[in-house]
Amino acid sequence: MLKELWQRRLALVEKALLEELREDDALNAKLSDAMKYSLMAGGKRLRPVLLMAAADAVGANGDDFVTTGAAIEMIHTYSLIHDDLPAMDNDDYRRGKLTNHKVYGDGIAILAGDGLLTLAFEVMLRQKNASAEKLTQVVKEMSIAAGPNGMVGGQAIDLLSEGKSISMEELKEMHMGKTGALFRAAIRSGAILGGANQKQLDALTLYAEKFGLAFQITDDILDVEGDERDLGKPIGSDAKNQKSTYVTLTSLEEAKKLAVQTVDEAVTALDDFGEEAEFLRELATYLIARNS
Ligand code: IPE
Ligand code: IPE
Ligand code: MG
Ligand code: MG
Ligand code: MG
Repeated sequence: MLKELWQRRLALVEKALLEELREDDALNAKLSDAMKYSLMAGGKRLRPVLLMAAADAVGANGDDFVTTGAAIEMIHTYSLIHDDLPAMDNDDYRRGKLTNHKVYGDGIAILAGDGLLTLAFEVMLRQKNASAEKLTQVVKEMSIAAGPNGMVGGQAIDLLSEGKSISMEELKEMHMGKTGALFRAAIRSGAILGGANQKQLDALTLYAEKFGLAFQITDDILDVEGDERDLGKPIGSDAKNQKSTYVTLTSLEEAKKLAVQTVDEAVTALDDFGEEAEFLRELATYLIARNS
């Protein structure tokens, strides 16, 4: 189930991204190219796929919300473009291609990121078949998750913790921010659009928080023992920048244990759901074994 549904929805996301990235969305052709370069470079499209799966889990059809899925992928891609900049992680490859700033220069890369972030909010409002109330809730979820209390906040902790030892508490807070917040927003937005009740929303939120944490723990592990060809990005980036990660604060072995435990907690959060949440369960389990 996991592979087929993922592949099918990945194709839906690619199509939606191309459609939503309209030619007249940028005043300048180079800026438009730079935005498209990173956005259409592949990627697992996990956040949109999770958003749609959360809608399925509450009895809706996730396919209907691919537009909002495309919007969150734009926010995620912006975060990657900025994360790779020389002033941040200074990496040369992303999604198997040269990073945005390596091709277009730092200035245009910064603007391409800004462009994708802001365009994402316009795209969200293009979502059909959603009430104004639900759209308002989704915009709130996304803006808080992307902002200083979410992704940007986590990235700030990440940057300021270079070369320092931070506590496990701070590390967790950093991970929940830089990576967890967007996963949380993806899943909550899908659930909201799908018409979740409060109990379903709470359970899916817990799943999302565990999922996001486990995802960044495995990202830290893959930075040490992954394969650059599979990952499409360099390994050893964290060591190069003296980052605090689950691997540096514990050990490779402990980090792996913690990832397994966190995924178990994610799956347990879905106990009250039936077959309609099976994809989410399988996706959490895939996390542990992923190589890209
Ligand atoms: C990478 O995210 C950055 C993190 C938040 C850890 P993904 O592993 O989802 O990257 P893509 O979208 O597949 O390239
Ligand atoms: C970045 O974490 C998370 C965001 C882009 C918000 P990392 O710096 O570990 O991501 P990778 O490993 O470069 O993909
Ligand atoms: Mg980083
Ligand atoms: Mg990085
Ligand atoms: Mg990483």
